[in-house]
Amino acid sequence: MRLNRYLARAGVASRRKSDDLILAGSVRVNGKVVDLPGSGVYPGRDRVQVDGREVGLPDSFQYVLLNKRVGTLVTRSDDRSRTTVFDGVDNLRPATVAVGRLDRDTTGVLLLTDDGEIAHRLMHPSFEVEKLYEAVVVGMPDEAELERLRRGVRLEDGLTAPARVRLLKRGGRRPGAIRLEIGLHEGRKRQVRQMCAAVGHPVKSLERVVFAGLTTDGLALGEYRQLAPDEVSGLLSLTGIERR
Ligand code: URA
Repeated sequence: MRLNRYLARAGVASRRKSDDLILAGSVRVNGKVVDLPGSGVYPGRDRVQVDGREVGLPDSFQYVLLNKRVGTLVTRSDDRSRTTVFDGVDNLRPATVAVGRLDRDTTGVLLLTDDGEIAHRLMHPSFEVEKLYEAVVVGMPDEAELERLRRGVRLEDGLTAPARVRLLKRGGRRPGAIRLEIGLHEGRKRQVRQMCAAVGHPVKSLERVVFAGLTTDGLALGEYRQLAPDEVSGLLSLTGIERR
C-alpha cells in the first residue's frame, strides 16, 4: 500500500497532507526516515511512525450512527464535564471521532467513526456531501427571503454557497410550527442558524435529517446503531474510496 494512503487510513492526515509529512521527513518505516511520497508499506508487517508516534491500521473500522439529542456537545472530552455525544455510546474505540460538528442544541444525524480517511472526505467541501436540515423558525419567511437563503446570505466569513431551501407544510410532529428544509454542501459554524437569522427568521430548533444519505429512521433521540455493511460501502463509493 502506498505510504500516503496508509497514513490517511490510519487517520493521520489526508493523502495530500500525508505527502507533506513524508517530504518533511516526519515519517519513519522500520526506523528509517522515508521521504519519497511514492513509497510503499506492507500493513501489518512494516512499523510506521510519524514524529516518533507509532501509527497502525485497525483490522476493521467502527461506524456508529447516532441520533444526537439536545444539550450534548460534539467533543471527545469537555473541560467542564458537560455531557458529550460520546457519553451514551458503548464500546467506543479510542480513535473514534464525530464526522463534523453539530451545535449543542441541534439534534439528528451524527456519524462517529475511527475511519480517518472516510471522515476526512465526508467533511471536505470538495466531496460536496449534502447535509439536510429541518429548522423551525420564528415568523413566516416570504418568497424573497427564501430566495436570499437559496442564493447566498452574507455572513461574517463571506457569502454562503447556493442552498436548497423550501418551506415545509405545517403539521407533522410540530403542528403550527413554521419549518424550513435546508440542504447545504458547506459546513460553516452555526451556518443554518446564522443564515436564518440574517433573513430575519431566527431558528427555534434545528435537526439534521440527512447526512451523506444517512437518516435517523428508527432511532429515538440519543439512540445509536452500527452502520450496516452496505451503508459503509455506500459511504466509500460516495467519497471515491476503493478498498479490497
Ligand atoms: N447549522 C447550524 O446552525 N447548526 C448546526 O448544528 C448545524 C448546521
